[in-house]
Amino acid sequence: MSDWREPWRVERARVHDAYDVHFGRAVDDLPTPSLLVDVEILQRNLVTMASALEGYPARLRPHTKVQKSTDLAMLQMEAGAIGVTVATVWEAAAMAAAGIPDVLIANQVVGDDKLRSAAALCRHTNLSLVVDDERNVAALSQAALSAGVTMGILVDIDVGMARCGVRSSDQALSLARYVDTMAGLELRGVQAYEGHCMLEPDRETRIKLAREAMTYAVEIRQRLLDDGLSAQTLSAGGTGTYDITGHNPNLTELQAGSFVFMDAMHGNLVPGFEVSLTVLSTVMARHGDTVILDAGRKSVGIDFVSPPIVNETWVARYFAEEHALFDTSSAYRADLGDHVQLIAGYAPTTINLHDVMFVHRSGVVSDIWPVFPRGPGHHGFQQLLT
Ligand SMILES: Cc1ncc(COP(=O)(O)O)c(C=O)c1O
Repeated sequence: MSDWREPWRVERARVHDAYDVHFGRAVDDLPTPSLLVDVEILQRNLVTMASALEGYPARLRPHTKVQKSTDLAMLQMEAGAIGVTVATVWEAAAMAAAGIPDVLIANQVVGDDKLRSAAALCRHTNLSLVVDDERNVAALSQAALSAGVTMGILVDIDVGMARCGVRSSDQALSLARYVDTMAGLELRGVQAYEGHCMLEPDRETRIKLAREAMTYAVEIRQRLLDDGLSAQTLSAGGTGTYDITGHNPNLTELQAGSFVFMDAMHGNLVPGFEVSLTVLSTVMARHGDTVILDAGRKSVGIDFVSPPIVNETWVARYFAEEHALFDTSSAYRADLGDHVQLIAGYAPTTINLHDVMFVHRSGVVSDIWPVFPRGPGHHGFQQLLT
C-alpha cells in the first residue's frame, strides 16, 4: 500500500462527512440512540488522574480499548500520557496511523497476519507486545526479522487474574532469558495486570490484593534485573487500582482507561471520577408506569451491570435489541418523545456499538470523535499492514 495511513484517513473523513451536520446542535436535537461525551467532565477526569500521579514515578499509558478514539488518545498525549495501551493489533494500527508515537499491545498477538502487521507497525511507532509462551516469542522474532525491525517485548505475568501470563517466577525468568537471545526482539520489562482486583468492592481488600500482586511482580522484575536482563518497564494497573498500584514506587506505567468515561460497572468504586459518557435515548412508548426506550443492547453495553438512567431511579426490567424497558415511578409524568440519558453498563462494549461519540460542552455538540476500529476487520484496519 503506497500510504499505509490511508484507511484511517478515509474512514475518519467518511465518518465526519456523515456526522458533521450535527456540529453546534443541542444534544437534545440529536437522533437517538446517540453516544454523548461531556467534555468538561472528561477534562476533569483527566486532571484528577494527572493529580493522582503527581509526585509518583508511574506515568499514564491509558488503555484505549475502552475509548477506541484516536482523537481522545491524542488529547491524552497532550495531557502527558507517554503512549497508549491497546488490546489488538488493529487498534495499534489505528493509533499509529493517527500519530501516536508509542503503543503497547497488552495482549498476546498470535497468527501470521497479526504477526506480520505487528512487525510492519514497528516502522511507524515504538511498539511493544506482551508474551507468555516461547513459541509465540519465536514467531515474533521471525516476523521481526522478516520485516527488518525490532519489537519491544514485556513478559506478561499472571499476578492473580488467571487469564494470560506466565504462572511462576521461574517461568518469567526462563522466558525473559529466551526473549533476550532472540533476534529482532528487545526485552523491555514485565506486564503485571492485576485484573482480579479491579472490582473488589471492599477498598481495604482491594488494596491488600493489589499490593500483593505488585510485590510479586516487583520481585520478578528484580530477579530479571539481577540476572543482567534489561527489564526497566513495569506496566500494570487500571481504573480500580489507579491510586494503589499507581502509587507503587516501582511502577513505571499505569494502564488505566475507563476513568475518562466511567460506567455503571465501576459505579462508586473509584470516587473522584465522574460519568462523562452517556447514551441519549427517546421514550418510544409508555404503558402505565413502564416506559420503553429506543436504546437496547445494540446501543448500550449491558455487560456486568444493567445501565441506569441519569437522575432517575427507574428499575430496568429488560434490554432487548432495540428496546429497553424500565419501570418508572407513578410520579413520573413525562411521555412519548422525551429524552433520557443512560449510563453504560460497561463503557468498552457500549462505545464499540457506535460510529461516533458526540462530544458536547454544556449540551451543545462541540466535536465528533469517530470510533475505530470497532469490530475485527472494521474498514480495512485488518488489511492495513499485511
Ligand atoms: C491489560 C489491561 N490493562 C489495563 C486494563 C484497565 O482498564 P480499565 O482502566 O478500563 O479498568 C485492562 C482492562 O480490561 C486490561 O485488560
